[in-house]
Amino acid sequence: MKHLLVTGGCGFIGSNFVRYWLGQHPESRVVVYDKLTYAGRRENLADLWDSPNLSLVVGDIGDLELVGRTCQNHQIDLIVNFAAETHVDQSILGPLVFTDTNVRGTHVLLEVARELNIRLHHISTDEVYGHIADEHQSLETDNLAPRSPYAASKAAADQLVQAYAITYGLPVTITRGANNVGPYQYPEKAVPLFATNAILGEAIPVYGDGLQMRDYAHVHDHCTGIEAVLLRGVVGEVYNVGTGKEMTNLEMVDIVLDTLGQSHDLVRHVTDRPGHDRRYSMNVDKLRALGWQPKYDPKQAVAEAAKWYAQNRAWWEPIRSGEFRAYYEQQYAERLAKT
Ligand code: NAD
Ligand code: DAU
Repeated sequence: MKHLLVTGGCGFIGSNFVRYWLGQHPESRVVVYDKLTYAGRRENLADLWDSPNLSLVVGDIGDLELVGRTCQNHQIDLIVNFAAETHVDQSILGPLVFTDTNVRGTHVLLEVARELNIRLHHISTDEVYGHIADEHQSLETDNLAPRSPYAASKAAADQLVQAYAITYGLPVTITRGANNVGPYQYPEKAVPLFATNAILGEAIPVYGDGLQMRDYAHVHDHCTGIEAVLLRGVVGEVYNVGTGKEMTNLEMVDIVLDTLGQSHDLVRHVTDRPGHDRRYSMNVDKLRALGWQPKYDPKQAVAEAAKWYAQNRAWWEPIRSGEFRAYYEQQYAERLAKT
């Protein structure tokens, strides 16, 4: 595991992972392979591009020829696949690109890995389990029951990865992550959206009653969880990565507003997300058995994330004033006008 291809390495979790991995494994070489969609931003790794251990190939994971050539040129021995379309609301507005990238793109990576006999680690999500009844925590062996176009595309990718392990003996591992928060998360997602709106004194659009439950895990703990699986995990296995604790979205909003010292009067309950999953919750004992444990509990994770947005306006202000505006209008103008 000296030569890594990190797909989606300019996105939120991918860039945090690249920074973490190079810090822990300075002997490694990392090639970031990224299409640089709206969510993929070179500036997320601005401090590292001068490093001789890091390079960038701009490309689509669906491009079989370019992925194959990149792996051969850089003697890649591990692919870590973060690349995806990732926002549930965007998957409701325009679902087809989710199939292109998340399903076909992952399939192309599997074909390259099979051809060149490369280990592949795939980043999946707790959303593949669907929404979870109150008394249950998802186990890695549970059936997948995705309910949004995003979650369905991630479930298809997850199952393709497992099928390649079974059929071809491809060395693969999968991690299924909970909701991550932390630095460089694109402000379409709830925590950075609410934090940046709060800082700007704008309304906080809470979907429905706001009692949906999520495990808001710090991205640092996702990175250490992936590292634990890469170094000590059993090839062919799936591992949940989260804190095992949940809170409601209203509790998350309270933490964001209190951390930033903003008024709770900003909260608006708006029309719910179609098919909104009520609760995600995962059992993370299998990962803990590898010697991993989270550093942050969800309350600390949300507070730390909110603080990062207060301290890094130069990162998100250009995003919020650019193409993001059109998306925000489409997603929220009518909803907020009704409140
Ligand atoms: P993100 O949207 O911030 O970044 C996605 C990255 O993938 C971007 O850099 C983008 O340019 C790149 N990308 C998109 N399409 C591509 C393509 N066709 N070819 C190459 N690159 C492409 O996403 P994120 O939140 O960092 O999520 C990373 C991974 O983790 C995803 O697979 C996601 O499903 C999974 N995940 C996310 C969370 C979360 O809370 N954010 C939780 C669990 C799992
Ligand atoms: O659970 C893991 C998943 O977490 C990842 O696989 C996805 O890539 C990631 O986007 C995230 O999905 P969610 O839909 O859970 O996250 P999001 O930040 O979009 O929303 C979190 C919760 O907040 C969810 O219950 C919906 C709600 N929400 C979201 C937005 C954007 C609101 O109430 N208002 C909003 O404006």
